[in-house]
Formats: sequence, structure tokens, C-alpha cells
Amino acid sequence: MSEWVLPTTEEIMKIRIITAVLLAVGVSIARAAPDGPIQPIQPVKEVNLAKADLGKQLFLDGRLSRSGVLSCATCHNLAQAGVDNLQYSVGDRWKLDAINTPTVYNSSLNFVQFWDGRAPDLKAQAGGPIANPVEMGGFTHVIVTNFLKTIPGYVTEFNAVYGTKDITFDEVTGAIAEFEKTLKTPNGRFDRWLRGDPNAIDARELAGYRLFKAIGCSACHNGEGVGGKSFEKLGVFAPYKTSNPEEGRYEVTKKDDDRMRFKVPMLRNVALTYPYFHDGAARTLHDAVETMGRIQLGQQLAPEENDEIVAFLETLTGEFPSIALPQLPAGSDATPLSQPFAGTPEANHFQ
Ligand code: HEC
Ligand code: HEC
Repeated sequence: MSEWVLPTTEEIMKIRIITAVLLAVGVSIARAAPDGPIQPIQPVKEVNLAKADLGKQLFLDGRLSRSGVLSCATCHNLAQAGVDNLQYSVGDRWKLDAINTPTVYNSSLNFVQFWDGRAPDLKAQAGGPIANPVEMGGFTHVIVTNFLKTIPGYVTEFNAVYGTKDITFDEVTGAIAEFEKTLKTPNGRFDRWLRGDPNAIDARELAGYRLFKAIGCSACHNGEGVGGKSFEKLGVFAPYKTSNPEEGRYEVTKKDDDRMRFKVPMLRNVALTYPYFHDGAARTLHDAVETMGRIQLGQQLAPEENDEIVAFLETLTGEFPSIALPQLPAGSDATPLSQPFAGTPEANHFQ
């Protein structure tokens, strides 16, 4: 057991000074920070650039898929706000995904990944689509790493980044996650307004923001991402009608209470990431806002109110990072060609 020693007068003075300094700093932070429910997106920090650069190449490399055609960027097009604007993405062998594709921009701000939160972080997430038969065709970790080892450029880069001779799947997903950390969109008009530029948004957009707070949208959509911080029931006041069988968090916990509880999506860049909801059923922001008001808050919004909220949501579009297009390392003679039509009649096209 440690003994409790009374602090000396000198130590008490030190503690008082430190407390005073902390209070002063705290007060100035509080003053600079907006007092509302939404905070500006912080710039990207603490990124390992070499690792992120490797991750960018892997993110763009269709050769990680069974067909050789589908990269992460096929569904999460970086030039298209990180989505494909489809209700359901098209994956391996033209199969449809089971749920709408969320954006990868700002995904590092999510408290967990996927609509049902089954991946705790981006690194854990990145293994999912590669192994998913519907998405990238279900390559095993071993197939992927063995494949990468036949590409001399990748071998050199993995060695430089991780300092080992081998390439592991853990390193693959780690690099992709590092790249995804760089995909932030700060300095949108709303963030500039939060930081004190009164002209960054206009009166109608401001009215929309006030309404968003007043009726309670911000109870679920808040923080830096304007969402991405909790699971919430979809259909608080009235059930959500859909033919999509996904039940959200229930798929993970199997608790009845978690049926139709989904991760609250972030609303950053939401004007660009249509269609909306996990079933992609809402084509427009007006539709999505109408549904949210009705089933989450029990409010039938007047058309003018809906317009105002949509105008506010449009101010959440940020500045996208400019991403230099890399040239992916070429394979060696030992690198197998991908077989997009393996096992189908088309495989014999020229035979
Ligand atoms: C065929 C389309 C497709 C491909 C290819 C694909 N994804 Fe996705 N991605 C999706 C879908 C659909 C979801 C939502 C799945 C769910 O929540 O169950 C998703 C979810 C995510 C999420 C979680 C975002 C959030 O808000 O929860 C991240 C991050 C992500 N993908 C990154 C990647 C990476 C990295 C790759 C490549 C290794 C990749 N995706 C390949 C369709 C795709
Ligand atoms: C009780 C929590 C809650 C409240 C309140 C709430 N939302 Fe949502 N919101 C969610 C959840 C959960 C989803 C995901 C729905 C799904 O799974 O399809 C969502 C989805 C959305 C989407 C679609 C995003 C996308 O990328 O698909 C928009 C837009 C949206 N909400 C706006 C609003 C607005 C505007 C309000 C106020 C009128 C509001 N929300 C109130 C929880 C809430």
C-alpha cells in the first residue's frame, strides 16, 4: 500500500499555478469552440505518409479482387464523394450488394464501421470487402498476400514501410486504413461559419441549422461528423417501411431491442452521397429529410422547413483533398492474370 503524504506548501502552490493555467487554457478553448452540437472537421494529423501512400495504391488496385476489376474505389469512387451514387453497389459477377454504400470520406470519424457497427475500426473494416464474395469476390488473405508478393514494386514498398521481408494481410489492411485517415473534408462553408465567418452561410441556411437543432435532428446527428457517433433506432415514431431484410445492430448482437438500430450516418457531404438510407430508398435529400422528421421526430415538416434544412445540409459539403493518381506497380512474369469470367461460359469466348 502506498502511503498518503501531505503536499508541502511549495507543492500546493505548484498545483494552484497548474490549475490556474489549465483553467485559463480551458476557458480560451471553450471560447474558440462553437457551443453548438456540431464541431468543425479537424485537419488530418499524425499520418504515416509512406504507409498512406502504399494504402492509396492498394485502395485503387483492382487486382486485389477475384475478377481483377473491382477495387475499393469502384464502389467508393474518390472522385465521386467516396460513393457510386447507386442504390446498391455492383460487385463480383454483377451481384448486387445487400446494403447502400456509405462514403469513405471522413470515415475515420465514425465510432465504429459499417451500418451495423460490426467492425471496430478502419483496419478491421478493410479486410471485409476483399473476402466478401459479393463485393470483391472472396479472395482469402493468403491469396491476396501471395499475389502481392509476385509484384516487385509492392515487395519493395511493404519492406520500406514495415521493415519486414514478408507481406502480411495485417499490413495490407493497416496501409489502407492509414490512407483512409487522409480522406477528410474540412473547411466546408458550415465549418467556416462555425469558426466565425458570418458570411459563410446565408440567412436561409442559418434558419435551416436552427431548425435542425430546435426539432432535434442534432440529438442524433452531431459532433465533427454530424453523426457517426451512436446506434439509433430507425423508426422512433413510426416504423420504417422497406423490403430490405437488413436489421442493423441486431445482426451483431441478436438482441431484439437492436432490431432496426443502425449507426447514425454522418451528414458531411450528404448533398453528394445520394441515394439515402441503408436501403438507398430515398433518392433526394428532400425525401430523406421528410422521412427523418416524420419517423424519427414525429414532425410533419412544412415544405419551407424542409427546404431550409436541405439548404443547411448543403453547407456541410467540405473541401476534398487533392489526391495524386499513383501508377500501380506492374506485376512480374510470375504474377497471374486475373480471370474475371472463370467458371462461366464466357471464359471460353475465343476457344
Ligand atoms: C462492391 C462494392 C464495394 C467494394 C468493392 C468495397 N466496398 Fe466498402 N462498402 C460497401 C458497402 C455496401 C458498405 C456497407 C456495408 C455494411 O455496412 O454492411 C461498405 C462499407 C465500407 C466502409 C464503412 C463506412 C461506414 O460509414 O461505416 C468503409 C470504410 C469501406 N467500405 C471501405 C472499403 C475499402 C477499404 C474497400 C477495399 C478494400 C472497400 N470498401 C471495397 C461497398 C463496397
Ligand atoms: C433518433 C435519431 C435520429 C434523429 C432524431 C434523426 N436522425 Fe437522421 N438518421 C438516423 C439514422 C439511424 C439514420 C440511418 C437510417 C438508415 O439506416 O437507413 C439516419 C439517416 C439520415 C439521413 C440519410 C443519410 C445517408 O447517408 O443515408 C439524413 C439525410 C438524415 N438522417 C437527416 C436527418 C434530419 C434532417 C433529421 C431531423 C429532421 C434527422 N436526421 C433526425 C438517426 C436520426
